[in-house]
Amino acid sequence: MSAIDVQPLDPGLSFGSSVAGVTDEALDDEGVRTRLRRLLDERGVIVCRNVEQTSAMQVKLSEVFGPLKDHPVYAVDRADRDNLPGVIVITAGPEASIVEIDGKPLVTWQPWHFDHAYNNEMMYAAVLRSLKTPKDGGDTAFADGTQIYDDMDPAIRAKAEELNVLYNLDLRFGRQRFGLPRTFNLVKEHGNAISEENENGRCSVHPAVWSRPNGKKVFHMCAYGCRGLEGDRSDEAFARLAEVWNEAERVMKVYTHKWEHGDMVIWDNLRVLHEATGSNPEEEREIHRTTIKGDYGLGKWEEQPGAEAAA
Ligand SMILES: [Fe+2]
Repeated sequence: MSAIDVQPLDPGLSFGSSVAGVTDEALDDEGVRTRLRRLLDERGVIVCRNVEQTSAMQVKLSEVFGPLKDHPVYAVDRADRDNLPGVIVITAGPEASIVEIDGKPLVTWQPWHFDHAYNNEMMYAAVLRSLKTPKDGGDTAFADGTQIYDDMDPAIRAKAEELNVLYNLDLRFGRQRFGLPRTFNLVKEHGNAISEENENGRCSVHPAVWSRPNGKKVFHMCAYGCRGLEGDRSDEAFARLAEVWNEAERVMKVYTHKWEHGDMVIWDNLRVLHEATGSNPEEEREIHRTTIKGDYGLGKWEEQPGAEAAA
């Protein structure tokens, strides 16, 4: 009989658990699998410690929570396209953006977001592991959409409830209209073709607030890749989005994961936002991420891709 040991990640937070004892044998135990599934549903983030660091183990852990799906963007690097189609590779290649925050140069920085915002279909969850962890930075931060919703100013929260938000894959920071840190400075823009191809591409639409099956409401929007509101790309639309986002960021309580050897981290992408804090451009960083199928059924493609797309 296998056993896992579950502890809160941080007693001050509404989300997150730390789990020891996740082994190949433990994951064959249906009792353990059921417990892990419940834990992700209840706590939103699970940090597994001292897990065997192989792709096979990462996939096995991922499949506890649902079937893997291939990433919707073919150009994204895979760990092994033929044998592990659900495992993508995140590195700082030559096309990577460099930004400066508080005067510090950073590579692989990504602001708060949920994965697949740019797609009509979401993904339920993902398992991350770090293969090359920089000494300086490279953390992954998480924030709970249910906590954000509960703690927002009620007047602004009411505005958030009305927003249907547009996203696409143009992730260039120079195109981001709100939500960049006050001390943000763009040193080098993303050089990948995906952003350029999506410059005027069709957008997905996702609600800024949705209700989980348990009735709890989730604040679930981000500024990264945001192209405005459904039917409204005006300055006024971005002002509404910025007001709501700034309030969300003001109240969010953050867990920042500092990677240690043996870690695998899972998050509920329908509830929890994440941020890559960035790392020293002189150092290598490599993260592998799985893509676990599962959707909330509320995303869609914008009906009319917009006058810009036709132009
Ligand atoms: Fe992400």
